[in-house]
This record gives sequence, structure tokens and C-alpha cells, in this order.
Amino acid sequence: MARNLRGSPPDPWSASDQAEFRALLRALQQWAGYSSLERLEEGAAHRRTSMPPSTANRALNNDKLPTADFVRRFVLACDADVARWTAARDALHDLKYSRDTPATGPVENSVPDSRDLSDLPSFCPYPGLAAFRPDQAQWFFGREKVTAELLSLLTERMIDTGPLVVVGPSGTGKSSLLRAGLLAALSEGRLPGSRDFARLVFTPTANPIDALGAQLAVATGSDGPEIIAALSDDPRRVVEVIRKLPGTDEPNSIRAVIVVDQFEEAFILCQDEDRRQAFIRALCVAAAEGGGALVVLGLRADHYGRCAAYPELIEALRIGQVLLGAMTNAQLRSAIEKPAFAAGLELEPGLVEVMLRDLGQGDTAVDVPGYQPGALPLLSHALLATWQQREGRTLTLAAYRLVGGISGAITNTAERAYRVLEPAQQEVARSVLAPHDPTRRRRGRHPSSGRACPSGCRVV
Ligand SMILES: Nc1ncnc2c1ncn2[C@@H]1O[C@H](COP(=O)(O)OP(=O)(O)O)[C@@H](O)[C@H]1O
Ligand SMILES: [Mg+2]
Repeated sequence: MARNLRGSPPDPWSASDQAEFRALLRALQQWAGYSSLERLEEGAAHRRTSMPPSTANRALNNDKLPTADFVRRFVLACDADVARWTAARDALHDLKYSRDTPATGPVENSVPDSRDLSDLPSFCPYPGLAAFRPDQAQWFFGREKVTAELLSLLTERMIDTGPLVVVGPSGTGKSSLLRAGLLAALSEGRLPGSRDFARLVFTPTANPIDALGAQLAVATGSDGPEIIAALSDDPRRVVEVIRKLPGTDEPNSIRAVIVVDQFEEAFILCQDEDRRQAFIRALCVAAAEGGGALVVLGLRADHYGRCAAYPELIEALRIGQVLLGAMTNAQLRSAIEKPAFAAGLELEPGLVEVMLRDLGQGDTAVDVPGYQPGALPLLSHALLATWQQREGRTLTLAAYRLVGGISGAITNTAERAYRVLEPAQQEVARSVLAPHDPTRRRRGRHPSSGRACPSGCRVV
């Protein structure tokens, strides 16, 4: 299929970690119409750059964030927006979303994966503004109950049908729950056979069918454009693609879990109603009896109503939705304390109470949520900032106050980062973020895309 018939390319800003970023680069290769790395090399030469297959293979298949130079050449070869991709790559690097840890020593601020335990005191178990990744499950606390609830609902879905929808306000912890809660639990085998399920996690982007097709292509080792063409032609063909994944021959064998995070993008970014419908169809067929997949959608609550136009989604929401709200006192306390203890850190007595109070928890003797659900990123960032100012192994009250507490930590970090930008970068930052508007800066989102923004990420 000619590229220009397949809509806009995958969006690099939809990656929340380096693994997703590499998956998007593969999706970009598919979008550009290169069926192999050899074809990609030819395309690179055509655009006066170089991309040897061995280099591409290495960069796309290791567990590191690709270098800026690699991304530039790769995206150039694919004839996509080089500035956008390199900015998104830099943002991941700056925020230490990636596990781009040099062999010589740990990178400060990054949440360690299990291999980094020997360097514990140098690592921060709080991801700041980033969502938790599946490999960070050991630092993820406070959502045990809802994770168990999701697993139980999915157990029904192994026999019953339809996608499960996790809905909640922005910043409430949906992406983290889906990755470090649900996917991690499945990889531990907490559902029968789930250790062997292919695990797909992606966001719809402007071209949800392409995004799904690219993920399935990677999982099955098949040709992306072919799968995308098949799904566009008839979304029900998703079943034959899923059957290529390993699994038993039983009619209801589950071979994959498909997590579509930020499902609202299918409404916000995708402008093509036919493709949106095809996407929804494909997901519902995959989740239906004999479809071979468990499908879980993460949905921002303010777009809930958009689902009402799609009968299959109405049905899914009627029988399978989980509303994710704020954490209770005990859950918050465990989200603050347990990662610290697991990472060999200590919390000064009184710090947790002050944090809970600043978050608006009020009477900490009562175990109910008292904070705005979307305030969780503020806590997470304040924990990271406090960790940066720690005394030895201890997160202190003085450090917490120094960084500005729950409400001030992001502003302070932003101001500091802003000051070290070049004048031109400051100008871009100002145009993207209102410098003194903490609500916009709070989550470092690009106003038009709703994602972490290029200069915003440098700033925060
Ligand atoms: N259980 C948790 N404990 C501590 N921080 C959390 C937890 N869940 C999410 N966060 C933090 O809250 C913020 C929002 O989380 P995210 O998963 O991106 O939410 P959403 O997808 O709903 O917008 C991030 O900063 C993340 O690190
Ligand atoms: Mg999210």
C-alpha cells in the first residue's frame, strides 16, 4: 500500500519509555513502506544519509534508547519529521524514562530495574512525572487491590467476551496501573498461562489501525504493511493474525494481551471515522470468544461519553469497566514508604504525614481519599525532587521543604531547568508553556497533542 494512503506517521510523543520508542521506530519503518532493513538502507542512501542494517538491527533490538544521531538518520530515511522525533527522543532521555544506564555507573533519577539493585543508594525508586513501566513493578505500590480486581475481571474475560476498560481522570495512575500493575502481574503468571501471552501495549495515535498493525507485526514477526492492509480491509482478520502467535489449538486459547493506553486518542487524534470504527471493531473481535486476546483499554474519564456512539463499546462499558480513583490514605502511605524501603532508603519521621497533608489528605486517621485524583503526579515529582536533595540514604523534611513541597517542586524544577536553556530554547519553552502557569507546566504536556512536550520536557 502506498504510504500516503496510510495517513500520518506514528507519533513519537506517544512513547512513555525507550521500549515503546523503539517500537514506534519500527512502526515508522513500516509506515514508510520499508519491508526490511535492507530496503530502509536503500531509502537512507536515497536521502543522502546512511543506515546499515546491522546498525539498525542493533539499535532497534537492544534495551537502550537509540542515540540522537541514530534517530535523526533513521527518521530522515523514513522521510518523517526529524525535529519532532529527535525532540521526543531527547525528552525521554532527559526525563530518564529510559533504562539507558551506562555500564560504568547508574544514571541519577532513573528508577532502577531489577538488574540495578547493587547500586541501590544511587537510584531513585520514584519515577517523577513518568508513568511506571512494567519492569518497575517492584517499586509500584498502592494499587494491589485494583490490580487484583483487574485480574479477576480478566479471568471472566478468558471465557466471556469484550474489552475491559480502565477509566479515570488524567494523572490518576491509569498508565502505571496498566503497565506496572496489570502487565507485570500477567508476566508473573497470575492468570493461567499468562506468562506466555504476547504483551502488546501502545497508544492509538492518529492512525490506530496502523498502531495496532505495527504492534502485531512486531509480535508475530510479520510484515507490518500487510497486516495493516488486512485490518483495513476487514478488521475481523485480526483473529488470523493473533493465531500466528504461539498458543494451544483449543478454540478459546488466549495468546495475547492487548493494552491500549490513552484510548481517547482514537477520538482526539484520529480524524477518520472509518478507521476509528475499524480499530474499535478489531479490538472487540480480538477480545470476543475465539478472538485469542484479552483487551484492556485505558480511557481518560473526560472522553467517556465519546464511547456512547459505538455499540460495541457501550456493551464493553456495561459489563467491564473499572473506575480508577484517588488512592486512600493507607495506599498513598504505602506508595510513598514502600518504594523507599525497597530501595534501601529511609524517610525522616513526620515526612509522610506532611506530604499527605500537603496533598490534601486532611484527617490522616480516616482511610479515604481526600486529594484530587489528578494530583498524584505532584506527589510523584515531589518525591523525586526530595530524593535528589536527600541526605545520605534519608529523605528529609528539610529536603522536601527545600524543593518546594508538593505544590512547589515542579515549579522550582521548571524554573531551574528554564534558566539553563539557550535563549532560543527559552523562547520555544515560553511559547509552549505559560512560564508562570503551574497548571500547564504541571504535567509538561504539549497543549495540542496532550503529550509530554519537547521544550516542556527540557523545562520540567
Ligand atoms: N501507585 C503509584 N504510586 C506513586 N505514584 C504513582 C502511582 N501511580 C501513578 N503514579 C504517578 O502518578 C503520575 C500519573 O501516573 P500515570 O500512570 O501517568 O497516570 P494517568 O495515565 O492516569 O495519567 C505519574 O507521575 C506516576 O509516576
Ligand atoms: Mg496515562
